[in-house]
Amino acid sequence: MQKAISTAVIKRLPRYYRYLGELRKQEVVRISSKELSERMNVTASQIRQDLNNFGGFGQQGYGYNVEHLYTEIGKILGLDQEHKVVIIGAGNLGQAIANYGDFARRGFAIKAVFDIKQELIGKEAGGVKIRSMSGLKEYVLKQKPEIAALTIPKEHAAQVANDVVSWGIKAIWNFTPTELRLPKDVVVENVHLTESLMRLSYNIRAAQEKKEQELGKQIAAEACMESAATEE
Ligand code: NAI
Repeated sequence: MQKAISTAVIKRLPRYYRYLGELRKQEVVRISSKELSERMNVTASQIRQDLNNFGGFGQQGYGYNVEHLYTEIGKILGLDQEHKVVIIGAGNLGQAIANYGDFARRGFAIKAVFDIKQELIGKEAGGVKIRSMSGLKEYVLKQKPEIAALTIPKEHAAQVANDVVSWGIKAIWNFTPTELRLPKDVVVENVHLTESLMRLSYNIRAAQEKKEQELGKQIAAEACMESAATEE
């Protein structure tokens, strides 16, 4: 069993995995922490520290073997096994997720999509037919998908999450803007694009403020030089 890894490190692992995947595609065999740090825009010591958590993948003077590191991080992230996903709510977001082929390539197989709206039942999303919610219980009990993606209005999220968990779902990919209260052994990953946008907005403001401060300093320095010149 791995020692407990901080959530900050876990959060960075998908990014390492993505970069290593790109290097692998470019048939890069090995990479130093310095090169990786330049590509990823994090410090080399951060990379060494992060990866040391998993038992020193790197070798002094050699760097990291891309294939090995990619495979090992994949295992740590549980990507070496297929995860069966059901999408609940086949509206704008549910269909967009179903139609995005890359999730399957990463091992997240969208096996079924469910909705309550009659006119959607039988239509296709991501290569599977949208099913009626009336069949969800039987489907979950029989097919035992691991993950339910919730893309329904938030008012229904708690009830639907409780139901699917009681039928055996182990993980919820929650897109609804609501905190789910579920048993401790159920894993919940909340995805909030709006929060990401708010961080973007904060960074835009911070960048503007920095620019204004720099401009202010420049003007003050110029004024200072001008007054020194007139005094001479
Ligand atoms: P939408 O209205 O296009 O789709 C919702 C779908 O859920 C509809 O097809 C509806 O028939 C179905 N539905 C309603 N109640 C249901 C139930 N009890 N069981 C099964 N299906 C049910 O809405 P949209 O835009 O796709 O958004 C879906 C959810 O995702 C909303 O809660 C929204 O707030 C959230 N959202 C979250 C984002 C994020 O970044 N986390 C981004 C966009 C939307």
